[in-house]
Amino acid sequence: MPGGVIYQIYPRSFADSNGDGVGDLPGLTSKLDYLQWLGVDVIWSSPTFPSPNADWGYDVADYCAVHPDLGTVDDLDALIAGARRRSIEVWLDLVPNHTSDQHPWFAEHPEYYVWAKGIPNDWRSVFTGKTAWRLDKRFDRRYLHQFTPEQPDLDWWADAVRDEFDRILRFWFDRGVAGFRIDVAHGLINDKLLRDGREYMRERPEAHEIFARWQEVAREYDPKPTLMGETYVSLDKLTAYYEHLDLAQNFDFCRAEFELDELRPIVEQTMREIPENRVPIWFGSNHDHSRMATRWGKGDERRHRAALFLLLTLPGWAILYQGDEIALADGKVPKSRVTDSARPPRDPERTPLPWTPSGEEWRDPWLPLTNTSRNVADQRDDPGSTLHYTRQLIEQRRQLADDGYETLPSSDGVWAYRRGERTCVLNMTDASAKHEGRTLEPWQGLIL
Ligand code: NOJ
Repeated sequence: MPGGVIYQIYPRSFADSNGDGVGDLPGLTSKLDYLQWLGVDVIWSSPTFPSPNADWGYDVADYCAVHPDLGTVDDLDALIAGARRRSIEVWLDLVPNHTSDQHPWFAEHPEYYVWAKGIPNDWRSVFTGKTAWRLDKRFDRRYLHQFTPEQPDLDWWADAVRDEFDRILRFWFDRGVAGFRIDVAHGLINDKLLRDGREYMRERPEAHEIFARWQEVAREYDPKPTLMGETYVSLDKLTAYYEHLDLAQNFDFCRAEFELDELRPIVEQTMREIPENRVPIWFGSNHDHSRMATRWGKGDERRHRAALFLLLTLPGWAILYQGDEIALADGKVPKSRVTDSARPPRDPERTPLPWTPSGEEWRDPWLPLTNTSRNVADQRDDPGSTLHYTRQLIEQRRQLADDGYETLPSSDGVWAYRRGERTCVLNMTDASAKHEGRTLEPWQGLIL
């Protein structure tokens, strides 16, 4: 069972090369040595496309260019080339469910979007909680927006939309992009008859034929680029997405409490249900959720390390969100600095990554850099740091064979599982525990 470590970049908050307070692609490229030292296999960056930033890049105005805040297409080429020299793949974030209302298509090709006369059903916008249908005075009709009103949904029943995205995929695959994370994969296509009910707005079976079509495009390339879905569905529905996606993100795992009784059944169910030719993927943070150091770690770095242990020793793929490797907690963002239109705002998990104790590398950053006590430089100098712990785990995970997962008997509070010849044991409590004669410190994980 193959797998690797994906490192998710939130590009505005990763590394700033020109001192304008916004992270950028040259900044990211300058940190490739760090990422190689850490041992990651893939960089997935949140959107890099031009965008009016109603949803910080998830409202795309041009799918075949780079946001000027982040750099140029040449900068992206340089990133891909630099990453390739270090055997790291670059995956981008495709946002096919909707565009920005500033995308030229919205003016020139209204037929690419979903329209209705009046409010046709009870579908609600995820962000506003109100009707997902916004009146457009140009046509005296309403368009669908599952997210902000500035993000009109594309009509995936339209052949022209499908053709456009085939071209977009090829544009980036031709440049060496080795994969895509697919935004809102579960909500891509909506019921053609616009019937009432959330189940008609999202999770439509017709999405799978679109993924199959993208796989056809991907198969034109060698090695075939990877398609990873943002599949925000319950675990019982996840396997369907594995039919045509290489990876389907497991949100039940990410959103669970860091408790043995919650997480172990999720892992067991995932391993039971995943198709044999597919690989699971685990993560505890991303740019939409409170960081795992806060949510799972609860301020205790030992708990956070236990979470890293789990992510990096389970079979398949693991995603680290930037900062997970240094146990970075959510930033503090005062009301006056909130930028996000979702409620609650997602700014705390998007604050800049501290590289140094002084934080001087971030001059007047777009989101506040409030706490630099956990930073890359200090932790790199300290062999006992969480950063070194993460790096060692990434190194050690290479010894864990490909062949699945099996829960082993263990005492209360201890999670033991077989990975090929090796056994992983993790104490999920804040008291010492025993496993087969060994003492495990609180939250300690061991590969035996
Ligand atoms: C999921 C993305 O991760 C999130 O940041 C965004 O707001 C929505 N999709 C809409 O694109």
